[in-house]
Amino acid sequence: MSTAGLNPHSRIVSGMRPTGHLHLGHWEGVLKNWIELQKHHECYFFVADWHALTTHYQDSRGLEANTFDLVMEWLAVGVDPDRATLFVQSWVPEHAELHLLLSMLTPLGWLERVPTYKEQQQELKDRELDTYGFLGYPVLMSADVLLYRAGGVPVGQDQVAHLEVAREIARRFNFLYGRGEAFDALLRSAHEHMGSKQSHRLIGWAKQYRESGASELLNRIAHTLAEDSRLDPEERAALFAEARGSGREILPEPEALLTRASRLPGTDGRKMSKSYDNAIALRDDRDVVTRKIRTMATDPARVRRSDPGEPDRCPVWKYHEAFSTEETRQWVETGCRTAGIGCLDCKNRLLEGMLHELEPVWGRLHRLQADPDAVREVLASGSERARIKARETLGEVRNALGLARPT
Ligand code: TRP
Ligand code: SF4
Repeated sequence: MSTAGLNPHSRIVSGMRPTGHLHLGHWEGVLKNWIELQKHHECYFFVADWHALTTHYQDSRGLEANTFDLVMEWLAVGVDPDRATLFVQSWVPEHAELHLLLSMLTPLGWLERVPTYKEQQQELKDRELDTYGFLGYPVLMSADVLLYRAGGVPVGQDQVAHLEVAREIARRFNFLYGRGEAFDALLRSAHEHMGSKQSHRLIGWAKQYRESGASELLNRIAHTLAEDSRLDPEERAALFAEARGSGREILPEPEALLTRASRLPGTDGRKMSKSYDNAIALRDDRDVVTRKIRTMATDPARVRRSDPGEPDRCPVWKYHEAFSTEETRQWVETGCRTAGIGCLDCKNRLLEGMLHELEPVWGRLHRLQADPDAVREVLASGSERARIKARETLGEVRNALGLARPT
């Protein structure tokens, strides 16, 4: 994950859809990340059950069980409810209210242009995704993060476009409702000082920029403003904010923290994925893991025991990198390249390290399964905590919009 430039005070928000059991790739790629982040940041991690509904509304029955299973897995690997706030999206109805309010100012074009929108509709043909809810997926996700004024949002590459929508929505919101009278007065005087010809050019470019998002227009605006000696620095800043569509920061723009892809391939060497049937689930037991590793693909060039191999071409090696000690890794590198060890020796050593890491996870998982009330309690208190922050933001949002409030 790239956390360069991440402010230590940044609040972190991330969610996962409850669509089935996690595999080792999720653990290695996503959850280990969360566990690092929770040490130094205020973190909100939630089950995005409404997001699961956008695609699975026709078969929603497993949602509750999947929600609990998912959170058990988080807890089992070490996501810590005393450090991070863990909750369920649908238990914090403020997400829905903010989603509604944001939907008012979100242009349809922004949603239709998200690449995953058309792609997923194509891919999931059997699901009828011509729905209002599915189109609004990125708006709901925007509400999820803006509600907590997230600074950083750990996401995979496939979610970056959604987060870009969240940033645009925040910017538009701030522009529409974050402009006080002083700001407007400053803008009026700036336009006057520029003269009407320049003012009209600028307005035209800004309009084009908002429609196309082309950053060279923004550069041109910045350049033109910098050159214009009729303006003072405050006026330039106000004009630039206006052109960009930003105003007072009621809803800060969140930063995507790109989660690097997991190093762990599937048992056949391709990307690990449930749909390829090559995944090792976090819940697989000792026997299943052992069988899956023992039958796993190796360096294709190493056909016979006497052929030397190359760890860099071998999926098993990736697992050693994640689970084995430095000493074992050296033993593998040398032994493999000199044909000093066989692949089964290599895999058995890997299993020692993996099982050593997995046993305690399974132990915690079993204890949690036997005590679902404990999980419910974690989620109930997490959701209450999340609501406190959510209500605070929502109060300011309602104020900014001019909605009346109950006394
Ligand atoms: N859409 C995300 C996914 O499928 C899950 C998600 C929902 C999320 N809301 C979010 C992730 C807010 C980060 C922040 O992976
Ligand atoms: Fe892969 Fe290990 Fe066999 Fe080398 S010895 S090819 S690293 S399984």
